[in-house]
Amino acid sequence: MLYLRDLTYHPPACHTPILKSVNLQVAPQQLGLVIGPSGSGKSTLLEILAGLAAPTTGKVFWREQELTPMHLEQLSGLVFQFPERHFCGSTILEELRLGHPELTRDRITEALTEVGLAHLPSSTAPHALSGGQQRRLALAVQLIRQPHLLLLDEPTAGLDWSMRQQVVGLLAKLKNHWSLLVVSHDASELINIADHCWTLHQGELTPISLAELRAKNQRSQVFLPEQPSQ
Ligand SMILES: Nc1ncnc2c1ncn2[C@@H]1O[C@H](COP(=O)(O)OP(=O)(O)OP(=O)(O)O)[C@@H](O)[C@H]1O
Ligand SMILES: [Mg+2]
Repeated sequence: MLYLRDLTYHPPACHTPILKSVNLQVAPQQLGLVIGPSGSGKSTLLEILAGLAAPTTGKVFWREQELTPMHLEQLSGLVFQFPERHFCGSTILEELRLGHPELTRDRITEALTEVGLAHLPSSTAPHALSGGQQRRLALAVQLIRQPHLLLLDEPTAGLDWSMRQQVVGLLAKLKNHWSLLVVSHDASELINIADHCWTLHQGELTPISLAELRAKNQRSQVFLPEQPSQ
């Protein structure tokens, strides 16, 4: 179980804090969803939880243990926005082995099975995969490290409808084994698989009822705005 207690992030170069007294918790086998507009602090929150930046004040706990950024680096697996842009390996196998030459074939097969890519030859070039498959590979790259917490930045951004459904289906499956925290500006597809939800506005995180969000989302799909007449 991950807990954030009054976490604030205020780099000296900024007039106001980027994250303001954030409280949040994510339980095992649950998906937490943070929805916020551009610039609200979503990626910054994930960077802190991945140990890439240290909070200015406040604490992060895993169960009763207080975590340092170094602990968080071990505990978390961060999938960046548009992760396929960061692929470096020339094959799936190379991509998964980057930085982990000791990984056994079994661990690799396990990670690829988890994301539904085990049927592909491991000599396939990452750039030859479809958009949805590339996102799956990016998830496998993190899963292979066996993190406790998966952090995903806009996991469906830039994908077409069917690829987005693929990724949402995969995240629903992954939460059977991991704790997931997902941030997005558009939550319409993710609210159906989320267990807890918050909104983030200018660094302020507020819990929001999932039932309310789902009802609002359904209404907006039923009552499409009228097209203006010519
Ligand atoms: N190291 C930094 N120093 C100064 N300002 C920063 C730093 N990192 C982020 N910011 C600012 O903090 C705010 C939040 O940025 P962040 O990238 O976390 O937003 P976001 O919600 O992920 O936005 P988007 O949806 O566009 O990705 C922005 O105003 C950004 O310019
Ligand atoms: Mg961002």
